[in-house]
Amino acid sequence: MKILLLGKNGMLGSQFDSRLSDLPEVELLATDSDDLDILSFSALKKTFEFFLPEIVINCAGYTAVDEAEFKKKDAMKLNAGAVKSIARLCNEHGSRLIHFSTDYVFDGRKEPPDGYLESDMPNPLSTYGETKFKGEEFILKEMTRGYIVRTSWLYGPDGRNFVDTMLGLDRDELNVVNNQFGSPTYTADLADAVINRFVVEEVDGGPETPDYGIYHLTNDDFCTWYEFAVKIFELKEKRVKVHPIPSKEYRTAALRPMNSILKNTKLPKLRNWQDALEDYLG
Ligand SMILES: NC(=O)c1ccc[n+]([C@@H]2O[C@H](COP(=O)([O-])OP(=O)(O)OC[C@H]3O[C@@H](n4cnc5c(N)ncnc54)[C@H](OP(=O)(O)O)[C@@H]3O)[C@@H](O)[C@H]2O)c1
Repeated sequence: MKILLLGKNGMLGSQFDSRLSDLPEVELLATDSDDLDILSFSALKKTFEFFLPEIVINCAGYTAVDEAEFKKKDAMKLNAGAVKSIARLCNEHGSRLIHFSTDYVFDGRKEPPDGYLESDMPNPLSTYGETKFKGEEFILKEMTRGYIVRTSWLYGPDGRNFVDTMLGLDRDELNVVNNQFGSPTYTADLADAVINRFVVEEVDGGPETPDYGIYHLTNDDFCTWYEFAVKIFELKEKRVKVHPIPSKEYRTAALRPMNSILKNTKLPKLRNWQDALEDYLG
């Protein structure tokens, strides 16, 4: 099985890189911006023509949520324009695409514990969310064999994330937002589940009737950023006083949804976020 991985050095991409490199049935071509700039259609086309990937996993993207408000064109090019090129080339070459999207495509107006279903209509509040939604639309329009996996609040090695930021702060007291709800997700759990469901199954001949389209996949259960921070310090036995604050007291360039819980109605559930976090910090 020939797999082209895009964004291999990113937080999620590095998890796919290490796991797929260990699978004997997989011939992996793992790339990042240095060896394959996905903004270049001709570079992508050449790669498809010489490697003929059966599966493309796209972990590349413009992920700086606040910065995107000031660099809309750059974010749009990477999260939508490049995705359109990838979708077209996948269609031409009969490759399946596994692409990642985000909880930030939703406006967050639902009341927790309600969450967003795969079939709910996005209504992004931020430029990042808007560009990721455009990317999803291109996949659904340009190709027939695409899996879009929406996930949320990622953390893991090899990337900037909330867990490492909290632990790197070196403070005794901290204010953290307590009215935005979501599901922290460990990149290792996400990569394992996606490989088991979408790659290993394909290596074994594939499902009889593949169900392409949108999936929601996060660690189970949900919390606020405040509850997440408290748990991080508790697990690391750090004595930090965390104060809950409303989001109006923590202004950011990009608006975030107040509730971005993703309901997963199609795939086996992942373990809960507390156990996953304990594993990461252990
Ligand atoms: N992080 C989250 O909390 C979160 C939440 C929900 C969904 N997601 C989605 O999950 C996916 C992975 O996120 P992540 O946090 O792992 O991202 P990340 O750590 O920011 O990695 C993004 C990757 O994209 C690569 N890239 C950037 N521009 C490129 C280009 N022109 N050509 C080729 N590669 C390029 C980067 O390479 P360089 O470093 O070389 O530029 C980097 O390896 C994204 O689609 C994101 O939208 C993330």
